[in-house]
Amino acid sequence: MGMLDGKVAVVTGAGHGIGRGHAMELAKHGAKVVVNDLGGSVTGEGSGRDADLTVKIIQDRGGEAVANYADVSDYDAAASLVSDAVEAFGRFDILVNNAGIVRDSAIWNMEERDFDSVIAVHLKGTWVPCKHAALHWREQNKASGAPVGGRIINTISGAGLTGNFGQTNYAPAKAAIASLTQTLSLELYKLGVTVNAVGPAAATRITATMPNAPAVIEPDEVPDGEWNRMDPAVSSPLVAWLASDEADHVTGQIIRAVAENIIWMTPWADGPAINNGGKRWDATKLGMQLATDVFKTRAPGLRY
Ligand SMILES: NC(=O)c1ccc[n+]([C@@H]2O[C@H](COP(=O)([O-])OP(=O)(O)OC[C@H]3O[C@@H](n4cnc5c(N)ncnc54)[C@H](O)[C@@H]3O)[C@@H](O)[C@H]2O)c1
Repeated sequence: MGMLDGKVAVVTGAGHGIGRGHAMELAKHGAKVVVNDLGGSVTGEGSGRDADLTVKIIQDRGGEAVANYADVSDYDAAASLVSDAVEAFGRFDILVNNAGIVRDSAIWNMEERDFDSVIAVHLKGTWVPCKHAALHWREQNKASGAPVGGRIINTISGAGLTGNFGQTNYAPAKAAIASLTQTLSLELYKLGVTVNAVGPAAATRITATMPNAPAVIEPDEVPDGEWNRMDPAVSSPLVAWLASDEADHVTGQIIRAVAENIIWMTPWADGPAINNGGKRWDATKLGMQLATDVFKTRAPGLRY
């Protein structure tokens, strides 16, 4: 018995890298998989049939998979993610939003189109599949009156949670996906759908664009049972577990999976606060109050 037997999953951007690792892992645990990939370059140019490569790997290992070549940021084209799952395998249970591109440079060198395309693939390309999935599950829930048990696992990045030089497009897109995850977890809770996000780290086409990056590894190149901390599939067991029935109590969570570490990211939390007792603040006094009581960059002096 596999922990995902009977489930049908869609993994976006699964032609290469981390998405290929997720698709292989979900299939290994019994899920049937729609392998989506636009098949373009790492900067998002062109298109191709790279999804076929992952479908073949899964089939060669005894699993079931079909290819889908939609651009995840194209609203009409991405409706096929859900309809292909239903047509090929009769149902749709799990959505893993993983597709991504990079166009890094410091803001003074970044073109407007580099900002727009990265935001489009990551942020809109996560929202659009979520929207189609939500429509499908809401209809199913209305018809049966029962929780549908759906799963969404989005992909964030440490860069989005902490900032990263040269990524004023990518980092805010990933931070927004964390916020989308939390908000959507509230909206889909009553349907019985969990929404979480995973932050991976691996030697892929994306990291290969950075200076001194390690060589690209594809997850099927790592022999079964061999540990490689940069294997694109190191975060895939967490994704498979979040996709399972066992994880039905976990929603709205942001979790990084870096090499052998699984790190629960605590959300924005209230820090030190000041209160002006029902009066409007005075801008000329605010600097001192913030420095002493919020930022703690100035000694408050003797107070009692
Ligand atoms: N590699 C890392 O260390 C790392 C760290 C944090 C987050 N991530 C995230 O992991 C995800 C996977 O990236 P990767 O590192 O495996 O890179 P990758 O280039 O190997 O994989 C990304 C895949 O997405 C596909 N894709 C791109 N645009 C698409 C679109 N519009 N529609 C459908 N498919 C599209 C690409 O063709 C590619 O196969 C990305 O969201 C990335 O931001 C990666």
